Amino acid sequence: EKGGYPHFMLKEIFEQPRAIADCLRGRLDVENHSIQLGGLVDVLDKLVNAKRLVIAACGTSWHSGLLGEYLFEHLAKLPVEVEYASEFRYREALIDEDDVMLVVSQSGETADTLAALRTAKERGALTLGICNVVGSTIARDTDAGVYTHAGPEIGVASTKAFTTQVSVLAMMAILLGQKRGVLEKEYAARLIEELDRIPGKVEQILENSESIEEMAKLFTYAPNFLYLGRTYNFPVALEGALKLKEISYIHAEGYPAAEMKHGPIALIDEMMPVVVIAATDHTNDKMISNIEEVKARKGRIIAITGEDNEEVMDLAEFNCPIPETEDCLSPLLTSIPLQLLSYYIAVNRGCNVDQPRNLAKSVTVE
Ligand code: M6R
Repeated sequence: EKGGYPHFMLKEIFEQPRAIADCLRGRLDVENHSIQLGGLVDVLDKLVNAKRLVIAACGTSWHSGLLGEYLFEHLAKLPVEVEYASEFRYREALIDEDDVMLVVSQSGETADTLAALRTAKERGALTLGICNVVGSTIARDTDAGVYTHAGPEIGVASTKAFTTQVSVLAMMAILLGQKRGVLEKEYAARLIEELDRIPGKVEQILENSESIEEMAKLFTYAPNFLYLGRTYNFPVALEGALKLKEISYIHAEGYPAAEMKHGPIALIDEMMPVVVIAATDHTNDKMISNIEEVKARKGRIIAITGEDNEEVMDLAEFNCPIPETEDCLSPLLTSIPLQLLSYYIAVNRGCNVDQPRNLAKSVTVE
């Protein structure tokens, strides 16, 4: 059932080209540069006219939600707030019939996410879901939604659920940008064509998994890791750190790169690997200065960067080059080497990769 792989997690990482393609299939119309999301047809008008979108989720799905904020703001010019479902439900959350609540959940059963959804519903908001498990409680309780079609995810560490959630969010944001008349035609066309190429580019990254396996050997016993990213790759930094923590039990933190100066820089020394996700063009110079700051303190740089970005590659000690893509779609590529890195480190440490201690696949209790 693991299809020849030693763990479900590795199988699911390698399934991503297929999972993303399945997620895009029938939705992405490359010829006509349009997107169809059948599950949203009935509520599209309301969504197009919404004043605000609130996204609630937990864990990895919250990281997708954070990317959703960046995507909806950039492509659809729609104000977004992203909430930890557990915080939203216990706060005096201001939400009403003018708002749309979008919950993101692989399992569709996460207790806090379900409670946040019910709160929003009680207050009259339109509720939407992005779920993987068909017929799950959240999928049934939302007014409308989009399935990720990633196939069953068994490993506790979420991998293909994340990249397919982000694919759905990107499609939703492009569609909304088009319908709201705020997305330039040529840019929308480029994004749709590029989304179509993503499965092939993920495949290319996976073909390089051996170099990440080799690199992982050198960091197996690092006590701490820092992950830095900006804009679209800040949520990826958070996700990379979570992945490492949950399966290898190494302490890791993700930060927006500029925040390093406001505290975490004090931690950097020759024992500290720093994973820099430098794959967005307009922040490249800033990331380069962050890399230099880390190097000046003898931190060890692992860079996830565009394969043409020689400036970053020359500075880094280790490189995971990724194919060039549109900035806002880069998380679909940059997250892959981070999944592999955490996987190989956890295996080297003899950890139970598919069922890490203290964790459940689906958190149905508070
Ligand atoms: O099923 P959900 O997407 O609602 O689950 C949310 C989190 O429990 C989940 O993403 C968790 O953080 C994963 N173990 C991360 O890999």
